[in-house]
Amino acid sequence: MSVQIIVGAQWGDEGKGKIVDHLSHSADIVARYQGGANAGHTVILPPARKGEPDAEFVLHLIPSGIFHPKVTCVIGNGVVIDPAALMNEINQLRSAGIKINGRLLISHNAHLIMPYHKLLDSAREQGEQKIGTTGRGIGPAYIDKYNRIGIRVVDLLDRDTLSKKLRLNIEEKNQILSKIYGSKKLDVDEIISEYQEFDKLIDEYVTDTSRFLAEALRRKKKILAEGAQGALLDVDHGTYPYVTSSSPTSGGACTGLGLPPTAISSIMGVAKAYCTRVGHGPFPTELENEIGERMRTIGGEFGATTGRPRRCGWIDLVSLRYSIRVNGIQKLAITKLDVLDDFGEINVCTAYLVDGKRMDEFPTDVPTLERVVPVYETFKGWKMKTTNARKFSDLPLKAQSYVRALRKRLKTEISMVSVGPRRDQTLFVR
Ligand code: IMP
Repeated sequence: MSVQIIVGAQWGDEGKGKIVDHLSHSADIVARYQGGANAGHTVILPPARKGEPDAEFVLHLIPSGIFHPKVTCVIGNGVVIDPAALMNEINQLRSAGIKINGRLLISHNAHLIMPYHKLLDSAREQGEQKIGTTGRGIGPAYIDKYNRIGIRVVDLLDRDTLSKKLRLNIEEKNQILSKIYGSKKLDVDEIISEYQEFDKLIDEYVTDTSRFLAEALRRKKKILAEGAQGALLDVDHGTYPYVTSSSPTSGGACTGLGLPPTAISSIMGVAKAYCTRVGHGPFPTELENEIGERMRTIGGEFGATTGRPRRCGWIDLVSLRYSIRVNGIQKLAITKLDVLDDFGEINVCTAYLVDGKRMDEFPTDVPTLERVVPVYETFKGWKMKTTNARKFSDLPLKAQSYVRALRKRLKTEISMVSVGPRRDQTLFVR
């Protein structure tokens, strides 16, 4: 059995896209298991012709294995699909010469994002319960899924069912929306015909992906399960309520793809050499100062989906140890090490203090997390460019020591280090 899960070990934006693209070299299938178009997985490809610039793609729904022609990409049942965003992505990839047909499979059980989900998402963000969502309708879509009134991909294939389900949903949502937006109401017939159009576009990709994956396992195929967001945004294990509405942690891969836990062979976590967060919620090592600003500028820390500036801070080993435990992470990929190249001193949070008492476990309750004071260990910066390193031993000794120190303190193998967005800026650690 070979299913490797790739999870974000922080608050998302760890660079999973690049790592999944890299690992796709030796995979047969890459399958996304949760989230929706709130994710933005960036992959940089070498230029098609000499002298041309690198090509940058930001994937929101399609798995990051799509750039490897032999890889089949699966959007699992745990994903919530915005059909318009998906079609957009398919068209963009096609116009860049990437073949999609026969290589993309969409679960018939995945739920759909509807226009009212986005309206409800942004309405909530106007009020006191706002948490800084991406506004992509994710929370309201998962609410409908768990309320058993969601509309699934399979519904698109049967016009009568679709129209009946949509009518009931829209009538109910219109009542809620008219309370919020006054007279603003959704037109039932307009939405029905818009979504019925998706049926034609999506039809060729739809299948029972759980069955497809089971058959692939039987034939000894290698599967990568790609998570979106990060463990600390998990609806169960994250910093609730400042979380997303799905399960980015490794457990979500089984339910989100219809794979049994016994099929999982390894779990890799991806973490930045520092830490970022978008949206509201506690962030113990956040640097609301000139150092944080520098990290944001050097690291280009602006949301790949919304363009929002990301909050930046030092790496937090308390939360990472928690993430390693909850996900069962066996190996880590450390990304964006190069962003720290110019810092004279680099801090690593090794514990928290709460009311003067040391705390080594990550508290997931927000009031405690908001009160913790990070305990830092300071490392001397290497003050040298690492972007040209092609093997771990090319790194300045102080950068090597930093990575080794993380490994020692996390008691977890670090198998990859990334020193830039390009494919060749990936180092394997032995
Ligand atoms: P939602 O997933 O749009 O409902 O947003 C809930 C929280 O998760 C917000 O704080 C978002 O900023 C955050 N979030 C959602 N998707 C991502 C992501 O891909 N990267 C980082 N943060 C995310």
